[in-house]
Amino acid sequence: MTERLAATPSGIAAAARILRDGGLVAFGTETVYGLGGDATQPSAVAHIFEAKNRPRFNPLISHFASADAAFKQVQSNPLAQKLADRFWPGPLTLVLPRAPGCTVSDLAADGLPSIAVRVPRGDAVLALLRAVDHPVAAPSANRSGRISPSDASHVLDELEGRIDAVLDTGPCAVGLESTVVDLTNPDRPCLLRPGGVSVEELEGLCGPIARPETESDAAPLSPGRMLSHYAPSLPVRLNATSVGPQEGLIAFGPTPLHDEAAVTWNLSPTGNLEEAAARLFSGLRFLDSQRQTFELTGLAVQPIPEHGLGLAIQDRLRRAAAPRPAGYDLT
Ligand code: TXA
Ligand code: MG
Repeated sequence: MTERLAATPSGIAAAARILRDGGLVAFGTETVYGLGGDATQPSAVAHIFEAKNRPRFNPLISHFASADAAFKQVQSNPLAQKLADRFWPGPLTLVLPRAPGCTVSDLAADGLPSIAVRVPRGDAVLALLRAVDHPVAAPSANRSGRISPSDASHVLDELEGRIDAVLDTGPCAVGLESTVVDLTNPDRPCLLRPGGVSVEELEGLCGPIARPETESDAAPLSPGRMLSHYAPSLPVRLNATSVGPQEGLIAFGPTPLHDEAAVTWNLSPTGNLEEAAARLFSGLRFLDSQRQTFELTGLAVQPIPEHGLGLAIQDRLRRAAAPRPAGYDLT
């Protein structure tokens, strides 16, 4: 059952409690309804992908109640400050380098060294974000491939029974997603997705904005993009049915091949795909960190089921296993 909460102080407090406890709450912003989960809890983020039925992970926007809260998580720059002053709260998302101590989980950022941040408009959503006091990851609250919802009843049509609650904040004013601008290089702002703030308005403040070849929710898989994702330093071997003595093992399920492995990280001993998604990035980082201790030459990955979140996990591991572009430093 998905609870429909009114945008009253008690409804907002209930929604905040659910989010802090790791549950999922959809809420209206000025653009579209977002499917919110605590960005610092990988299990909540895994649950977002599961509820949306997404075949692959993609980096999510972290939502905040204020620019101050957002800029604690990223390394800001004068241009970002200027855009935030002008457009926040509002339909603009800024992509900036992760700050030291950033608490957004790797899964929410799909392993990228940058984070997308935004302060949405709307009294109820801002009150909710203030009460949660953690970054809230929120993609549009529709099932994968469907239209973004601009009303609480659209959300229920799509996600009834798959999320804990929807905070009914009424219809969305803009009805179109936020504009996403990459400011990781402030000398070359780059439009990643057109949206609620027009390019002309942006260019009025920051000069010409580069428009890369792609502009969609589907993060491109080009090698250039893959480079910027976290990939382990060790080569990755998928669908392993045996494991060598100098291999680290990413296991899945109750019968790992760990007897032969130098060191093992089981994504989910009970074979739960949501738990596996939540533990994927920490596992890659852990095994990578064991490289010298165990003189590892590679990572072997046991087969992962090809359904539900298994598809997204497989997709991420395939990217981790893909040949690295020339010059990619494997140490
Ligand atoms: O209006 C909106 O932005 C809505 C509401 C709910 O806030 N949210 C939304 O989220 O549309 P989502 O997850 O559907 O879109 C996130 C966009 C994607 O195009 C994604 O590739 C991009 O932001 N993005 C997120 N983090 C990024 C990063 N670190 N680098 C580059 N692009 C990023
Ligand atoms: Mg979307």
